[in-house]
This record gives sequence, C-alpha cells and structure tokens, in this order.
Amino acid sequence: MSSDYDPTIVGLLCNWCTYAGADLAGTTRIKHPQNMRAIRIPCSGRVSPHFLFTSFFQGADGVFIGGCHPADCHYTNGNYYARRRFALMKSLLDFVGVEPERMALEWVSASEGDRFAEVVTKFTEGVKGLRRPSALKRDGLES
Ligand code: FES
Repeated sequence: MSSDYDPTIVGLLCNWCTYAGADLAGTTRIKHPQNMRAIRIPCSGRVSPHFLFTSFFQGADGVFIGGCHPADCHYTNGNYYARRRFALMKSLLDFVGVEPERMALEWVSASEGDRFAEVVTKFTEGVKGLRRPSALKRDGLES
C-alpha cells in the first residue's frame, strides 16, 4: 500500500461526553485529522462486538470508542462495562487477524475539545502507520 494510505475511522462517541468534546473541537477549530465518521451512541457501555465487527466488515480501518471519564458516566457505570468489554474485543480482533492497534478506547469529557483532537490524531496516525487496510476489508468480507 502506498504512503498516501488514508484510513477510514469509525468513531463511536458517547452522547454525554466525547460527542460533545468532538463538537467543541470542531467549533473551536482545533486541528485534527478528518478521517473519522462519528456515530453518536448513548453511552460507551452500549458498544458491543457486533458494532465493532459491523464497522470493520463495512470498510472501517479503525474503530475509536469515546466515553465519559471514570465516575462521570451518565448511566453510572457504563464506561466500566465498556472498559471490560474493550479488553475482550481487542483479544477477539487479534484472534481473527486484525491488528489490535485498529481499536482504541478513550475518555474525553464535553469540555476537552483539545484532548479529543489529541487522542484522535494519535489514533489516526497509528492506523495510518499500519500502511494497509484491515484484514477484514482486504479479504472482501464487507457487505
Ligand atoms: Fe458517557 Fe456512559 S454516558 S460513557
């Protein structure tokens, strides 16, 4: 794959924190890569392996999950469930031959537009550094 590989990132962003943080980054014009297709979800605890694999099968090169900081979840402990599930989903990705670097979980509050830009930049650069589409995309498994 050429060095101009431009990955597609799916962003599963909690409505109460990270989605608002992303909005703040946009409205305050903080520079960050524009590879992400943001999807607003009620809570990071809502993310399941189904969301993850659907994203990859439909062409994502990376999946970024954003939630509220620990102890700040609008639903009390959804982000703790997300953190546990994240570890399992990462192992699952590794098992099917997808680099675990293609998935990230970060806590970003509504007031952290600068942090949103920072973590998304770091994640996007990491996926770009792999220099090829995910195995699920390459193998033509997308629907
Ligand atoms: Fe944001 Fe639960 S409401 S992580």
